[in-house]
Amino acid sequence: MKQIVLKAVDVSKSFANNGGQNHVLNMVNMEIYEGDFTVIMGSSGAGKSTLLYAISGMDKPTSGEVYYRGNKITGLSEKKMALFRANEFGFVFQQSHLVSNLTLFENVAVTGYLSDSKTAKEVNEKALELLKKMNVEKAKDRLPAQVSGGEAQRAAIARAIINNPGILFADEPTGALNKRNTEEVLNLLTALNKEGQNILMVTHDMRAAIHGNRFLYIEDGKIIGEMSMPAYTEEEAKARERQIDAWLSSMSW
Ligand SMILES: Nc1ncnc2c1ncn2[C@@H]1O[C@H](COP(=O)(O)OP(=O)(O)O)[C@@H](O)[C@H]1O
Ligand SMILES: [Mg+2]
Repeated sequence: MKQIVLKAVDVSKSFANNGGQNHVLNMVNMEIYEGDFTVIMGSSGAGKSTLLYAISGMDKPTSGEVYYRGNKITGLSEKKMALFRANEFGFVFQQSHLVSNLTLFENVAVTGYLSDSKTAKEVNEKALELLKKMNVEKAKDRLPAQVSGGEAQRAAIARAIINNPGILFADEPTGALNKRNTEEVLNLLTALNKEGQNILMVTHDMRAAIHGNRFLYIEDGKIIGEMSMPAYTEEEAKARERQIDAWLSSMSW
């Protein structure tokens, strides 16, 4: 039996819109398991990003609870949540959101300093190790404006994992990349997952989706389907694509 890492119970999220309420998430119940590369799919506007923010403590659900390794995280004060997030969760978005006046190395290291589990020397070593692992070591002393989109995104992944997060959340992490950089970023995420990194990725890109092993489909703010398959291998990429495609069709994607 796989261990549950994250559990959402009856999570709803509404936004006020000119006098009324826009119900974006409607009683979402889901579990994320240890070891998985989970992929959330669904059409544009289905609520994928809203769900990711609501369960990762980036935003507060309107109602419902979220549990991380059995501990309730909804209801934590903003300060406690910020600390919890810094230690337990990593984030990658469509844009790398690196700090523009810090080098790639500094961007990664600064996040490491936020956690109190390592000395500055240990953080610096780890930052360098991760930049190497993400194949962006050569650009480590450049500013974000002086590197390619792919390099910036790989540095953003290094930053996201420097504090050994229990879950790496990724919202359309390849949405702004060309084909070659997309493949490289996805292969790096897959390699991290093989080493045990739990990943939750939102995407509507099939090329990205095939790297996952568990799939959730969201429509109108509800999870309406799920599917699992073995971990990604490149040889089976085409077969995976066909299987996901058939599943998506059955959801009237
Ligand atoms: N901060 C917000 N305020 C009001 N409406 C929002 C906000 N964020 C998202 N929404 C609405 O929620 C719906 C789902 O958005 P989102 O979660 O971004 O979808 P997806 O990521 O699946 O494309 C959309 O109709 C969007 O307009
Ligand atoms: Mg989105």
